[in-house]
Amino acid sequence: MAKRQKQNSDVVVVGSSNTDLVIESAKLPEPGMTVLGGKYQIVSGGKGANQAVAAARTGAQVIFVANIGCDDFGDDAMARLDREGIGTKFVVRDQNAPSGVAFIMVGDKGRNLISVAASSNDCLSIEHIERAKSAFANAKYCLIQLEIPQPAVRAALSLSKSQGVFNILDPAPCRRLSKSLLQLVDIITPNEFELAELTGMPVKTKRNIECAGEKLFQTGVGEVIVTCGERGVCHLSSDGANWFSAPKVNAIDTVGAGDCFNGSLASALSSDLGMAEAIRFAVSTSAHAVTIRGVQSSFPELKPSNCY
Ligand code: RIB
Repeated sequence: MAKRQKQNSDVVVVGSSNTDLVIESAKLPEPGMTVLGGKYQIVSGGKGANQAVAAARTGAQVIFVANIGCDDFGDDAMARLDREGIGTKFVVRDQNAPSGVAFIMVGDKGRNLISVAASSNDCLSIEHIERAKSAFANAKYCLIQLEIPQPAVRAALSLSKSQGVFNILDPAPCRRLSKSLLQLVDIITPNEFELAELTGMPVKTKRNIECAGEKLFQTGVGEVIVTCGERGVCHLSSDGANWFSAPKVNAIDTVGAGDCFNGSLASALSSDLGMAEAIRFAVSTSAHAVTIRGVQSSFPELKPSNCY
């Protein structure tokens, strides 16, 4: 049964929705190779939808702004959002573009390969964002990723700023970002590989990560949170660099772990947890998610207020 949707939100998520076609494959293929895989599943995904689900599961009232096709995959995605109690008033159904699709192979130790056909996500426009202005009116945080066109990303960042809403940018999939765009960002959450791509600096050691994070911080973003898997999380702000350790877990599927982290972080911050506690909370939910197969189905239902 669908959970009740509220008009006001703690978190607005602006981003993609995909259908994930997932094959478990102990051996991941090299180019030109065929391998025999295992179990196959069709599940709801997309970095935007995943982050919306993670925020909702951890207690936030969430409104999703997206562009989804008028096909069966789109209908399933809408039904999933509805079941999670996520507000879909600002999800546009696109008559002309098919819904986004991702091909995913999950190998051993949680390693994976992902390729995305953005499709309808690529048609999310500045006008869509402007039409969703009222979604931002009472929100505390806006969560954005890079699976939608950059003009829409910039429009969402500008709108959240103008409405006094803090924004969080997950720079995935990674692209070069202009200084003027980064200056609109309150919190940026690259993983270590995205940090390397954004800064052109090495990220081999913890000291490397601090230096690269500092370079990103100097572009004018408010705060930098670098997720480094089992090495933990590095938070950089005007107070310097601070590391948070990650629990040792047996990772079997890391797809969507970053989305779980971002959604949980926004949810915890919107519930007025301090930054350190919000990061610890997001570390624990995403560490839990990697121990379970699946994307959204691996995200825990856990409220920050039950942990702190
Ligand atoms: O972050 C994981 C997600 O990336 C998947 O759900 C897939 O759809 C791609 O967007």
